[in-house]
Amino acid sequence: MKIFIDTASIKEIREAASLGLLDGVTTNPSLVAKEGKNFRAMLDEILAIVDGPVSAEVIATDYEGILKEGRELAAIHKNIVVKVPLIKEGLKAVRTLSSEGVKTNVTLCFSPAQALLAAKAGASYISPFVGRLDDISHNGMQLIEEIVQIYRNYDYQTEVLVASIRHPLHFVEAALIGADVCTMPFSVIDKLFNHPLTDSGLKKFLSDWEKTQK
Ligand code: E4P
Repeated sequence: MKIFIDTASIKEIREAASLGLLDGVTTNPSLVAKEGKNFRAMLDEILAIVDGPVSAEVIATDYEGILKEGRELAAIHKNIVVKVPLIKEGLKAVRTLSSEGVKTNVTLCFSPAQALLAAKAGASYISPFVGRLDDISHNGMQLIEEIVQIYRNYDYQTEVLVASIRHPLHFVEAALIGADVCTMPFSVIDKLFNHPLTDSGLKKFLSDWEKTQK
């Protein structure tokens, strides 16, 4: 399963990339706004750090506007993936962009029907938001199971990019289901390394070794 970081923070992206396990980056308008920097300059910095897919979201919500922004974003770099909201105009634009060879990530997916339509439109990635579903007492991971099953049934090539991940269990469940990608905040990536038995075991190994040095 591929690991993407879900942030626009250059510091976090640099740190995650230094671990040698990072496959790509997803951003969204809220994450970009949080950094308070110029979007284009931010993208250039991200693209220089990570040699993998970098999702950049359009702001337009009409077909022509999404196409214009999407083509401009795609022209920046071969690794740019144009992030498009799952609305009618968005999927129309995804169809056109994908026919032009532009990679797309369809975002704000909350149902299997939406995911099926995105695959039919030719999306490169579908982003179902598990945490936001859990937040309203729906089962986010059930949505991932359903999408993976539907894509298998029809051999769709659209990659399932599990988004809105809140904790390591989401990551493990996504992997068990067979999702293609997980995108996570740095705080969750950091937690994946930890286990208290690793810490106590290592402490014991080192203190026992120390005794042999006397
Ligand atoms: C996905 O690409 C989104 O950027 C993201 O995962 C949303 O996560 P949130 O629900 O924590 O805002």
